Amino acid sequence: MKINEFKLERYFAKHEFTAKYLLSSSDCDGYELKYVLAQATQNELDLWEGMVFGYTESEGDPLLREAILQYYKIKSIENVVVATPGELNFISMNVLLNPSDHVVTVSPCYQSLSEVVNAIGCELSFWEPSSEIWEFDPADLEKLIQKNTKLIILNFPHNPTGGYLTQEQLDEVVRIARKHNIYIFSDEMYHKLITGSTSELPPIADVYEKGVSLWGTSKSFGLAGLRTGWLVTQDADFLKKVIAYKDYLSICNSAPSEILSIIALNHLDAFLLPNLEKIRTNIELFDAFVTENPILSSFTPPKAGSTSFVPLDIKTSSLAFSNQMVEKTGIMTVPSEMFNHRGKYIRVGFGRANFPEMLEILGQYLKTY
Ligand SMILES: Cc1ncc(COP(=O)(O)O)c(C=O)c1O
Repeated sequence: MKINEFKLERYFAKHEFTAKYLLSSSDCDGYELKYVLAQATQNELDLWEGMVFGYTESEGDPLLREAILQYYKIKSIENVVVATPGELNFISMNVLLNPSDHVVTVSPCYQSLSEVVNAIGCELSFWEPSSEIWEFDPADLEKLIQKNTKLIILNFPHNPTGGYLTQEQLDEVVRIARKHNIYIFSDEMYHKLITGSTSELPPIADVYEKGVSLWGTSKSFGLAGLRTGWLVTQDADFLKKVIAYKDYLSICNSAPSEILSIIALNHLDAFLLPNLEKIRTNIELFDAFVTENPILSSFTPPKAGSTSFVPLDIKTSSLAFSNQMVEKTGIMTVPSEMFNHRGKYIRVGFGRANFPEMLEILGQYLKTY
């Protein structure tokens, strides 16, 4: 399969390890190994010490799949498969779709949620928010449904906008999908990162028989380096096909990552709560910051997730703005071109402890811009 370049990841590859500051990261600061191990019970430490560097079970260690299921109503480990998040997205699309299918995906979106579908050859429609307050209206989604629509792709909390659905809106999306017998692939990588006043949505796997939920340790847990993700669905046959496809990719998961993921899942609050605290504080700081910086003034705080898509009042393109900024200040921002989105925006990520320092430097820079 030929596939277009993943623009966002290529942009990160260029700057992530050379730029001094990352203002656009969607993950929170990574925790240290010693912090992860400090949360572990004696049994979990024994697992870690006794770990063997052999191959692991394709589906994921049963203990890991049980740890995952603490957060779902589904209770059989047959309904869970573990792999890296991007791999699970790639496999799911390939298992579910044929070139004659039509797919609706949220837009703007993390590029793999549209590009894999494109590469398979499917027709693609975009469910876009109605305005810059990033409200996704299910009535707009329904208008996009065709006779051959096979799949709806969701991503709430939404990267990059910080948009989220209400329970009623999610119910409506499920009603539409059920009526037309359509699968829902719900990328829930930012699950539980709820900083606004909205309440947490259930995973799609718990509320829809043709729903597939994707979550992992990268965002909510601050453990991107583990590369652990998982699918949960009521459709165990679909997962059998996912595992068979995985034989051509990673085959099985990294043994140390599986054990560290078990520890993280069993002690979620130790990872999640400091991240939520950091995101809330940084959103407040940014809200105050934009009032003094008209270039960024129409900022909508995210309802959920760790990022926001901030409109820029500038004459150049957002790509030129970002390129110039990283060169002059060492601050990397992701411009809207990396999301194939019209208009001028940068993504701002709120999960980093050095956010106040970055704002200080950004403020100085914008004064002279
Ligand atoms: C919406 C979404 N899905 C999937 C991923 C992939 O997660 P990972 O980087 O852990 O592979 C990301 C990463 O940014 C994301 O934002």
